[in-house]
Amino acid sequence: MDLKKFFINQNSKKQLKILTCGSVDDGKSTLIGRLLFDSKSIYSDQISQTKFESEKYGTQGKEIDLALLIDGLQAEREQGITIDVAYRYFETEKCKFIIADTPGHQEYTRNMATGASNSDIGIVLIDATKGILDQTRRHTFILSLLGVNHIVIAVNKMDLLNYDKKNFENIVHSFEKLSKNFNFLSKRYIPMSALIGDNVFSKSKKMPWYADETLISILESFDIDKSSIDEEFSMPIQWVNRSSSDFRGYSGTISSGKININDEITVVSSGEKAKVRKILTPDGNAEFSFENQAVTISLDKEIDISRGDIITTDLDKIKIADQFSAHLIWMHKDNMLPERNYIFRFINSYINGKITNLEYKININSYEKIAAKSLELNDIAYCKIALSKPTFFKSYIQNNQLGSFVIIDQFNNLTVGAGMIDFELRRSSNISWHDMTIDKNKRSTLNSQKPCALWFTGLSGSGKSTIANILEQKLHQLNKRTYLLDGDNIRHGLNKDLGFTDADRVENIRRVAEVSKLMTDAGLITLISFISPFKSERRMARDLFDTNEFIEIFVDTPIEECEKRDPKGLYKKARSGKLKNFTGIDSDYEIPLSPEIKLKTVSKKPEELADEILNYMKKNNII
Ligand code: ADX
Repeated sequence: MDLKKFFINQNSKKQLKILTCGSVDDGKSTLIGRLLFDSKSIYSDQISQTKFESEKYGTQGKEIDLALLIDGLQAEREQGITIDVAYRYFETEKCKFIIADTPGHQEYTRNMATGASNSDIGIVLIDATKGILDQTRRHTFILSLLGVNHIVIAVNKMDLLNYDKKNFENIVHSFEKLSKNFNFLSKRYIPMSALIGDNVFSKSKKMPWYADETLISILESFDIDKSSIDEEFSMPIQWVNRSSSDFRGYSGTISSGKININDEITVVSSGEKAKVRKILTPDGNAEFSFENQAVTISLDKEIDISRGDIITTDLDKIKIADQFSAHLIWMHKDNMLPERNYIFRFINSYINGKITNLEYKININSYEKIAAKSLELNDIAYCKIALSKPTFFKSYIQNNQLGSFVIIDQFNNLTVGAGMIDFELRRSSNISWHDMTIDKNKRSTLNSQKPCALWFTGLSGSGKSTIANILEQKLHQLNKRTYLLDGDNIRHGLNKDLGFTDADRVENIRRVAEVSKLMTDAGLITLISFISPFKSERRMARDLFDTNEFIEIFVDTPIEECEKRDPKGLYKKARSGKLKNFTGIDSDYEIPLSPEIKLKTVSKKPEELADEILNYMKKNNII
């Protein structure tokens, strides 16, 4: 650790990553503008452009409007809000700064989380005229959650309150109360006016009662305390470099700790060990290297390491599990639904998985834990997660790279959430699969049939159950062993506890998919008739089966026709508002894009449609 400080001090200026957060209009842009301007990090053409803009938009009599300096996007200016994370750079004699400028308004928690995850210090900006707002509470929570342990509370716009000491003290008092919920390692309070420059770079003469330092000297003298951070060396391998026949190097960015020549490393996946022979950096050979540096390491002997492996000097500290608990930040307008399949991206792998338990959601204003069935945009929650196979990780507190992940939608590849791992769940390693002697093949041979899952999907009243019922009779006559799982019937027993919210429908289909897999495994031809409105869960069901075993049948009846038939009078109820969350009316039905069979029901009899399925089964050698 000391060596690291030496390294930083001797070879380059100290670098500090800062995150600014605050509500709209707290003066964030002005503060950043002030930091850039007073550190002379702004080009003269930007200044003259800003002068021009200031004349156009008005500047409250000031020479230039500092906020305009950094409001690079036209959209920002028009809306008066900052809409994306922007990184600004400035330096003083002692220190280089990277400042992440994140938006203040509510929808952009996501951007703030992006900015916070790498920051050494968070500046929480508070408008002195408004005091602590919901946004302040929200941002403070996120800073703490993402492990930004040092914060500076900048109480801005003191000029508008005649630099009143009492006001500042009240805010300090309230913030102290609020921050009792968290364990920040350091907190500093500064009264300032970013617009005028009071206590930013120069000490304000208007606030003689404030004896402490200016913002910039607090930042400059800040000692990056990495003591809580992982000391053990670990590096995910991004590339195996075989640039010549006698050279094999492993390239990646060190995610934690320090590596020296001759250190012994272990490959996490295989447990194989070797010693470090050379460390190559962009600046040439090195004796040692640190966290966040990109290196290529060569070893004293050939061992099997491939892209995606992790190497470490302390294998015991890395966890391997397929289930763990984690904090989640949901970042998409489509709700997170427990039991839905998503892709989880870890530092060096992509794994399918799902959120199995939504333990609680956090009320970001009161910090209360509240029960929830799903998560909406910007929600923060604590969850249990199950993956389809084990992965390597550490807890986020120990190592924010090996301990974090991103959640991706499996259909459109969009990032929908981010998470911080808390700990692995023991049960993951205590259960194993037993292969039984009598298996699906033996059961099917005895039944003289090929088992399969005939999955009917379509709107309520589309005809699914009617067609499935006729088909089952026809199969029965052909001496086939069958079972019909029907939505309404299963909801009388196994799924009696479920309603019609999106979350309940996901769970409904998950259970039924599992049951139909068991029935198919028992050697039966299983007919499953559920609205199953979401493509995600239909895919999940399909993925449980072997190739060609799952036959998706889309009973394609237009909603007008279903409504005309309305066999149970439910459309009528839904239209009159007596029935909520009704599929096709106020709950979505996602049309299957490539079902094995599509049945157009208008102008055809259920008999004919059942025959269409029989023909398909014959053509595909199922019966
Ligand atoms: S699913 O969406 O979760 O697949 P499922 O097939 O189990 O639904 O149940 C649908 C049946 O429940 C419908 O055929 C209808 O009889 C009944 N039902 C009652 N309320 C609703 C509702 N809000 N939306 C859809 N179907 C409903």
